[in-house]
Amino acid sequence: MNITDSIFYVGVNDHDIDLFEGQYIVPNGMAYNSYVVVGEKVAVMDSVEERFGEEWLGKIAEVLDGKKPDYLVVQHMEPDHSANITRFMDAYPEAQVVATAKAFDMMERFYGAAYEDRRIIVKEGDELDLGGRVLKFITAPMVHWPEVMMTYDAASKTAFTADAFGKFGALDVEEDWACEARRYYFGIVGKFGKQVQGVLKKLGALDVERICPLHGPVLDADLGYYLGLYSTWAAYEVETPGVAIAYCSIYGHTAEAAKLLAEELEAAGCPKVALSDLARDDMAEAVEDAFRYGTLVLASSTYNADMFPFMKAFLDHLADHAYQNRRVALVENGTWAPAAAKAMRAKVEAMKGIEVIEPVVSIKSALSDETRAQIKELASTLVK
Ligand code: FEO
Repeated sequence: MNITDSIFYVGVNDHDIDLFEGQYIVPNGMAYNSYVVVGEKVAVMDSVEERFGEEWLGKIAEVLDGKKPDYLVVQHMEPDHSANITRFMDAYPEAQVVATAKAFDMMERFYGAAYEDRRIIVKEGDELDLGGRVLKFITAPMVHWPEVMMTYDAASKTAFTADAFGKFGALDVEEDWACEARRYYFGIVGKFGKQVQGVLKKLGALDVERICPLHGPVLDADLGYYLGLYSTWAAYEVETPGVAIAYCSIYGHTAEAAKLLAEELEAAGCPKVALSDLARDDMAEAVEDAFRYGTLVLASSTYNADMFPFMKAFLDHLADHAYQNRRVALVENGTWAPAAAKAMRAKVEAMKGIEVIEPVVSIKSALSDETRAQIKELASTLVK
């Protein structure tokens, strides 16, 4: 596939993967992108996941039609991109590998070789002259590992952005970009908002017409839309007006309260309500919704004098991903000693910039007229 007359796509689609990075469901598979950039010399940008080595090498050979690549640029050492470095270096013994010093340390540990006699170590601002075009390297630590760098090709105004601007989903499936890019971002890069903001600033100083990420489609139109979303996400700002409700329920009474709240919110004019059953729905989707909207409602049964385990896991995910600057309302349920609200409050109050909306709704076993009225009151408070 031609990206331009001198940049070629040689990535692969994976529809066999069960969990990406060992935890994320990917109903539409995953793409591991790789690109061939042709000047007088030829650079290949990153490799692909282990199982696709032969397919990837075959695509490179087909694009180059007898010509040999001179460089393998390794922007990121996570194995979904680095697993075929050895195969490439064996297939092209004249080629050199280009990466940051940290990446070479990782290469030695992962694959037992750091190619001391066949490598170019680069740092921020270094350039690789391909003849007719120059690749400039931009370090991007913690987006999403410490060794990451991005690459800018001024000749084609292309930014190769490693994991940034990537998404879940193979490229042979049509789907909305933002939904799976947001789930990917908050799950994988979300903790590192400051570092993403830093790299967005560096990209902002460049004339970029095309973004080539390591997952998801090449972005070459409406770049302001994608950059705008990344800027919102990296700053932990509210993307969409609305309320996310995350609930756990044992016998359905807490679920009933959560659904009643959703109905009352909609009736009160809330523009969007996203409801997640934390025991049954995708946890990464619930995390994504928590970051997307400005208000989060946590509704949990009491369990072992604490919140329900799925709620605990959810709040740990939010804390781990630097959840911040949101309003949070609490709904608890308990038959003899409700304790979930106290436990949830302690977790969210330890996060930065969280405003807990009072009062807490405390249900005793099942909804009553009194707690139904409190749920209605909570809905009207949240839409104010
Ligand atoms: Fe797509 Fe952080 O690897």
